[in-house]
Amino acid sequence: MPIFLDTGNLKEIERFLRMGVIRGVTTNPTILFKEGVTGGLRGIEERSRHIAKLVAPHPLSVEVMTTEREAVLRQAKEFASWGDNVVVKVTVHGPDGELENMEIIHELETRHDIRVNVTAMMNAQQCFLAALAGASYVSLFGGRVNNMGYNVCGEITKLRKLLDQFSLKARIIVGSTREVLNIVEWLEAGAHIVTAVPSLVEGMLVHPYTKETVKMFLQDGARLEAKLKA
Ligand code: E4P
Repeated sequence: MPIFLDTGNLKEIERFLRMGVIRGVTTNPTILFKEGVTGGLRGIEERSRHIAKLVAPHPLSVEVMTTEREAVLRQAKEFASWGDNVVVKVTVHGPDGELENMEIIHELETRHDIRVNVTAMMNAQQCFLAALAGASYVSLFGGRVNNMGYNVCGEITKLRKLLDQFSLKARIIVGSTREVLNIVEWLEAGAHIVTAVPSLVEGMLVHPYTKETVKMFLQDGARLEAKLKA
């Protein structure tokens, strides 16, 4: 399941599903806001249910939008009820480093049978602890790490080794893609999945020299046809 689409855009999801190259979708509040989703929680529900149906049986990640314990649990249970393939995204900690989320992540996975994608992580050690807490997915923000001046590939390789060494079930999603080359580079480093915006997945496919070559084939094909008719 190597490539997920990091978007809330229905047309793009449908387009890449038709090509058969994606195996899941990730969203977050920023993505849905930029996508113009309105109507509060009901708007998010409508969009998420739509995406979940489109991508099923592949997973869709939807992120909780609160930090208060009971509210996180309530939102997580509600989101999970929107589809069997809905995975609930929870940030590894709160805005000031509060660690209650880790307890909630553990509780959701072990007591409520809800799959959790632990998100907004910047290094292998955060992801390792989230995996120990029982997370189904651990999301490492590759582009943001690189922007801080570190190469995320080292963190990915280290994390993959740890997950394999201790037979942890968590799958590594590397997100926050910034360049086309990130996708293959991060998969090669050991990521199970890279989630990327549609323009970057398209960038993997379209090549100027391929365009030129296709034009040559079409031109010569037309010449051949003309000869046959002559
Ligand atoms: C991953 O799941 C996130 O949705 C996303 O990749 C975050 O990326 P950003 O750094 O572009 O916000």
